[in-house]
Amino acid sequence: MPKPLFEVKNLRIAVADDHRLVRGDPGPTTEDGEVLPSGWVEVLVGVSYSVDEGEVLALVGESASGKSLMLMGPFALLSSGSRVIGGTVQYRGHEYKPFYPFSDDESIAYQKERDQRRIAGTAVAMYTDEVFAELVGTDIGFLFQNPIGSWTPDIPIGEQSGESLEMHTDLSEEEIQTRVLDALGEVDLPKSGRLLRAFRHELSRGMAQRAMLAAALTKAPHLMIADEPLNGLDAPSAASILELLKDMRDRRGMAMVLVSHDLAAVAGIADRVAVVYGGQIVETAPVVDIYHRPKHPYTSGLIGSIPSANRSRLRHMKGEAPNLVDISHSGCSFAPRCPFATDICREVDPPPTFVETSEVRCHHAAKIELPGIDRRNQS
Ligand SMILES: Nc1ncnc2c1ncn2[C@@H]1O[C@H](COP(=O)(O)OP(=O)(O)OP(=O)(O)O)[C@@H](O)[C@H]1O
Ligand code: SF4
Ligand SMILES: [Mg+2]
Repeated sequence: MPKPLFEVKNLRIAVADDHRLVRGDPGPTTEDGEVLPSGWVEVLVGVSYSVDEGEVLALVGESASGKSLMLMGPFALLSSGSRVIGGTVQYRGHEYKPFYPFSDDESIAYQKERDQRRIAGTAVAMYTDEVFAELVGTDIGFLFQNPIGSWTPDIPIGEQSGESLEMHTDLSEEEIQTRVLDALGEVDLPKSGRLLRAFRHELSRGMAQRAMLAAALTKAPHLMIADEPLNGLDAPSAASILELLKDMRDRRGMAMVLVSHDLAAVAGIADRVAVVYGGQIVETAPVVDIYHRPKHPYTSGLIGSIPSANRSRLRHMKGEAPNLVDISHSGCSFAPRCPFATDICREVDPPPTFVETSEVRCHHAAKIELPGIDRRNQS
């Protein structure tokens, strides 16, 4: 079987938590056997997902469920207070371990340097593997949750947009400028010198996100990594970014991993949806099946909370989403909120199993009937 374009296997991530530090709990052990200091806690305990050439995978879940950690961890693009402690990433046949054994001092210095220096639409991280560094620099585009903050404040937009080409290609200054202008045109921004000379504070949020997409496109990427690309945009700007992304998928065959908290927003663009809860992917299925035949009670609950013109009341999911640092993983993390929970649910963390087209983590998925979008609209 051919390998997927991009694959994350058994990603493990730890974050720093003050409560654990106060209690003096021992830190987790990394893949290399290093024991992290007290205060660190493993919040992603072996997350795997993949995307094929030209495919769009959406990671969807509530706020603080671990979506950004899952998306950015494989590229070592985590903020300080979080770090990858195990797992493997494969891109275009090349395998890489995003786990870097740092002392805390080195880690903080590295994060500071990286945060001060951003390159629009590009990962800025220190990779120990040169092949992976080159692939990430030339072949993968990034859209971040905060489009304005993703630009360096004191460097003009045009210069930042061309920086990745300058680093990774032999193109002349003139050729780079032409590529940047063409990319601006592709995202319906003016192909003007004025925009090239603009600074980030002169852009609206919607323009900043389009310009970020243009910067990523200068490299003609095969994969776009997008963390809540519609976040904070007004409805027309969000709709136009979504249209642009669909266009990139259709015309360029660009694969994407797209994070969103809004299941409805990704319906028109995703091929497959991975539903995230409590730092785990609890269900993955083709988009149509997720909406019409959900197999995990949480997925069904998310669908029930999508507002619809045909329905005056939303289904209410009881309880609150758990804090990742408090999850024990000795049972199903959804059990406290699940109407189908039994003893085994509280005792054994359900492994992923296949039920029809879904890969799902639920002991009872094969036996329970859950409402999807059809029945909700009919009621
Ligand atoms: N740098 C960090 N330091 C400490 N804890 C962190 C850090 N990053 C993430 N966490 C912990 O992991 C949880 C999940 O973070 P993550 O950013 O992946 O959530 P998310 O699903 O992307 O949420 P949102 O939709 O709000 O962006 C956080 O609520 C926090 O408990
Ligand atoms: S394993 Fe049990 S508690 Fe968890 S989602 Fe399935 S039925 Fe609910
Ligand atoms: Mg996030």
